[in-house]
Amino acid sequence: MESGAVFAGLHPNSPSHHLLLGPSRSAIKILPPPISTDHKLLSPHSLSLQLQKQTRFASFSNHSNNNVNSLRVASPTSNVASELADIDWDNLGFGLMPTDYMYTMKCSQGETFSKGELIRFGNIELSPSAGVLNYGQGLFEGLKAYRKHDGNILLFRPEENGQRLRLGAERMCMPAPTVDQFVEAVKATVLANERWIPPPGKGSLYIRPLLMGSGAVLGLAPSPEYTFLIYVSPVGNYFKEGLAPINLIVETEIHRATPGGTGGVKTIGNYAAVLQAQSAAKAKGYSDVLYLDSINKKYLEEVSSCNVFVVKGNVISTPAIKGTILPGITRKSILDVALSQGFQVEERHVAVEELLDADEVFCTGTAVVVSPVGSITYLGKRVSYGSEGVGRVSQQLYSALTSLQMGLTEDKMGWIVELK
Ligand code: COI
Repeated sequence: MESGAVFAGLHPNSPSHHLLLGPSRSAIKILPPPISTDHKLLSPHSLSLQLQKQTRFASFSNHSNNNVNSLRVASPTSNVASELADIDWDNLGFGLMPTDYMYTMKCSQGETFSKGELIRFGNIELSPSAGVLNYGQGLFEGLKAYRKHDGNILLFRPEENGQRLRLGAERMCMPAPTVDQFVEAVKATVLANERWIPPPGKGSLYIRPLLMGSGAVLGLAPSPEYTFLIYVSPVGNYFKEGLAPINLIVETEIHRATPGGTGGVKTIGNYAAVLQAQSAAKAKGYSDVLYLDSINKKYLEEVSSCNVFVVKGNVISTPAIKGTILPGITRKSILDVALSQGFQVEERHVAVEELLDADEVFCTGTAVVVSPVGSITYLGKRVSYGSEGVGRVSQQLYSALTSLQMGLTEDKMGWIVELK
C-alpha cells in the first residue's frame, strides 16, 4: 500500500472555422474557433494550446447565452493565456464552474453517431417537446481527469463509462456512441479545457457526458433525434464534510429502484427520484440517504449518489449488482484493489442489521471517490464507526485508489489512460 497518500491530507484530489481532428472513427470538429488566425491543421496537443490562447481574448457576452457560438472579442492582441485558469484552486467544491468548451454530437433515431464537434460552453436549445424533457429519456456518466506533476493528464477507465452508457442506452431505447467515439470525445473535451484541470493535489476535472432524446415527441415514444454532449467542471470534494466521515440515514419508505426498473442504469430519473428523501435527510443534518431494497426493505442497496461497502474483519462486502444497483466503476475498481491487498470481497445481499456490528462502512463513486461513513441511523438508532476518525480499511483503499488515479503509483491494472 502507498502510505504517503493519507486520507486527511490528500485530495485525489482548421482551416477557416472548421478544425478536423483526431480519430478517423469519430471525426471531431470545432465550430467556430473564437479567433482563428492560424489556418494550419493542429494536433490535439497544439489544439489545446491554441484553444487556451484563443480563450484568453474571446469572451461570451454571458454564459447563459442561448447562442453558444456568439462570442465577443475583447482584445485580439492580448497575451497568451496562462497555463491555468485564474480561479481559487484551494477552495474547489463540487459545483459547476463553466469552462471553455463542450462537446456535442447528434444523430437521428435509427442512425448512428458519426461526427461530433467542440463548441463554446453555454446553454443548449431544445424543443419544449424534447423526449428528455417530457419523458426523461436521458442518461449521464461521470468520470474525472487528473493533472500530474509532470504535466501529464490522466483518465481513469474511460472505456468503462463508454460501455456503461451503451448498456443504459439500450435500456432507454437510445442510440449511443461507440466506446471508441466516447473515449475520443472525452479526450478532446478534456484537452480543449486543459487550463481548467486543477493542479496536482487540488482536485480534478469532473467530466459529465450526457445522452438525451433531444428530438420533439408528443405521444409517448422514443425521441426522433439524440444528442450526446460532454461538459466539464473543476471539482474538489463532493460532500461538504470534505474527507471527514459522513453521516447517513437509512430510508425505509422511499425506494430508489425496483426490480425490473432502471436502477441499474445511469438514467437521469433515478437521481430525481431520490431528491425528496435526500432533502429531508439533509434538513435533519444527515449527509445523505442509504436506501433499502423495495421488496424486503431489509437489504442495503446504495446511497443517493454512490455505492456502499461494509467491512467486518478482513471481509469487505457490498450489495450484488442485480438490476437495482448502479454498477459503479469505482465500486468495481475498489473490489479489485481490495482483493489485490489480501481482503476477502463479497458481492451479495447485505442485510441492514449487518451495519450494527460492522467495523467500518464506506461509500464509493466517481464523485465521492471513497468516502468513509461516520454514523448510520436506522429506525431512530444511530451506530457510529471509527471513533478515531477515518477507519483503517477505508483509508487504505482510498489511498491505493487515488494514488493510482493521480499517477502516484504504478498502474499494474492497466486502468489509466494518459492524454499527454
Ligand atoms: C458520479 O459519481 O459521478 C455520479 O454520477 C453521481 C452524481 C450524483 C454526482
